[in-house]
Amino acid sequence: MRIDIVSLFPEFVSQIARHGVVGRAQERGLLALHGWNPRDHAEGSYRRVDDRPFGGGPGMVMMIDPLRDCLAAARLADPAPARVIYLSPQGRPLTQAKVRELAGESRFILLCGRYEGVDERLLAAEVDEEISIGDYVLSGGELAAAVVVDAVARLQDGALNDAESAAQDSFEADGLLDCPHYTRPVEHELGNVPEVLMSGNHAQIARWRRQQALGRTWLRRPDLLDEAGLSKADRELLDA
Ligand code: ADE
Repeated sequence: MRIDIVSLFPEFVSQIARHGVVGRAQERGLLALHGWNPRDHAEGSYRRVDDRPFGGGPGMVMMIDPLRDCLAAARLADPAPARVIYLSPQGRPLTQAKVRELAGESRFILLCGRYEGVDERLLAAEVDEEISIGDYVLSGGELAAAVVVDAVARLQDGALNDAESAAQDSFEADGLLDCPHYTRPVEHELGNVPEVLMSGNHAQIARWRRQQALGRTWLRRPDLLDEAGLSKADRELLDA
């Protein structure tokens, strides 16, 4: 899959994406990231990309034309049509379902704003979708773009070494939070590993993990339980 990043700091996103699973996905040819800088499409010796907001107020607004030309260049770099996604706190909250949907596309373009925002006319004309990574304000869309890239990259077939691990993630299988995990040593001053995990009884282990996932979700994110479509057995585990 191909992701184009339109940003005043495109290298910021590509730097983050050099490590770990995302870096490996690129090495394996599962993901190609391309950065595009609107400043390369700005005019004059100052290569101006922003200006003061009409109506007054603090901050600067990113101008239409450098962004529009930059987006056009990014689109043209590949023949496949590309959705343009603008990262902003006004967008729809990013969910694992949205990540899964994006992971199935052959390409898309991430547009990162800086300053107070982007001229609304550019957004209306060029943007297909706005995504927010949470109810807080970042100083630019780059970190949010890196979040999208990471979440999407690890779902590409072959990106994770253990094919199981994506399927068992929080949210991925059933919209519940993940169960706790333990490794050696069995006994430690911070506590011992729950005995059931060493019992070798796979049915009991599965039941314990399910109960833990349900309990955690109930405690930490009860809002997710309403959406999770619990079975009768799940309800019994929750009540147990
Ligand atoms: N840009 C600034 N804040 C953001 C947020 N919360 N999500 C996505 N993009 C952003």
